[in-house]
Parts: sequence; C-alpha cells; structure tokens
Amino acid sequence: MRIDKMLANLGFGSRKEVKKLLKDGAVIVNSKVIKDSKYQINPETDTVLLHGEEVEYRDKIYFMMNKPPGVISATEDVREKTVIDLLEVEDAVLEPFPVGRLDKDTEGLLLITNDGQLAHKLLSPKKHVPKTYFAVIEGQVTDEDVRVFEKGVTLDDGYETKPGKLTILSSGKRSEIELTITEGKFHQVKRMFQAVSKQVVFLKRLTMGPLRLDDTLELGEYRELADDEVEQLRSYEVKEDQN
Ligand code: URA
Repeated sequence: MRIDKMLANLGFGSRKEVKKLLKDGAVIVNSKVIKDSKYQINPETDTVLLHGEEVEYRDKIYFMMNKPPGVISATEDVREKTVIDLLEVEDAVLEPFPVGRLDKDTEGLLLITNDGQLAHKLLSPKKHVPKTYFAVIEGQVTDEDVRVFEKGVTLDDGYETKPGKLTILSSGKRSEIELTITEGKFHQVKRMFQAVSKQVVFLKRLTMGPLRLDDTLELGEYRELADDEVEQLRSYEVKEDQN
C-alpha cells in the first residue's frame, strides 16, 4: 500500500495534505525519513512514525457503545444526532456503521464496525443471534406472559414471533424483566409486550450473541473491542435456518 494512501485512510489529512507531511520530513518508516508519497509499505510489518509518534494501522475497527437515549442508530441524518456523531473523528474516519438498530429511546449495547461481513453474519435473519434486553414494563408481568412468549406471540401485523425467553425480575404495578429474542423485527420487544396488552417504558440491550455490554461504559461512551471479543464474534456459531 502507498504510504500516502495509508495515512490518508487513517484520517491524517487529504492525499494532498499527507503529501506535504511527507515532503516536510514528518514521516519515518523503519527509522528512515520517507518523502516519496508513492513509497510502498506493508502496514502489518513496517513501523511508521508521524511527528515521532507511532501510527497504528487499523483497517477493520470494532466498538462497543452504550447507546444513550435520544440518538438514532444510523450513520447520518439531517435532523437527528446519530451514534456515529458520538465517535471521535479518528474513529469516524474509518466509516463504521451500527450493526442493527436500537430505537431512538432504547439504550445499551450497540456494536459499531466497518466489517461488513461480520455485520451481515450477525444480522442475517437466517441466523438466530440471541439478544437479551432489560425492560421496565407498565403493568404486572405474569407467569402466563412467560408461557405466551415461550410459544411465540402474534404481533399487530399478524407476524408470529419465534419463542422469546422472558424472565421476571420483579413484578408489580411496574415490572422489571429480561427478554431474550433471536430476531430483530421493527420495535420487536415493544410490540411483543403490546401483544399481551402491556407497555415497555424503558428498554436497554444487554447482549448480542457472545457480546455483553461493558457495565463500566457510561451512556454515550464506547470502547474498542478486545481481540478476544472480536474473535468470539467471528467464530460465533449460530443455528442457520434450513429453509
Ligand atoms: N425492540 C424494540 O422494541 N426496540 C429496540 O430498540 C430493540 C428491540
């Protein structure tokens, strides 16, 4: 890869700006000042310093965000603030996107990456990646609801959901629950509760496949996934529909 392309890809400026950095002697590759913008480097093995600081080549990036309410799960929007707007410039420049959507008012685990292949695998409706949500429900969630969810419920548009595993954490005028589902229909959790005449008043995603929300992340904060978390996602085997 050309050195100017690598540095521009990493967000250190346009190709023209990067060319100037090179000309000014700001770039050192393997202890040698490199001024030629066509210079070929191997990002895996060569050591590149810019203004004396090592440049880490990142191609694929993986972030876990604790999505706050009030922002939308999209890459850009003319009116609304998006989860990508919450990223540092040097992370956003690598063009990551959210893997799936959480509603504007939903909080919690959101994977953000530029790895299209992994995103496709996690989102494919044929694979049944389990996602667990914590929710506060207006009304008393009952054992009968648990049984209904276990069989799958009929949503407002007639769609029969796959079984959901509902766990009641506390039950009263307001109830706290955890629900694990293996699909991602529009507003699915809210609509599943609507189907049993109850309303979700707070929703937070806790897990997606093998990934669990890091509870040290404040709302709106994000961190890079550890290598083993990425590996777990890549090697995650989900049951695929035969038909
Ligand atoms: N189900 C919902 O209703 N909303 C979400 O954001 C995620 C799942």
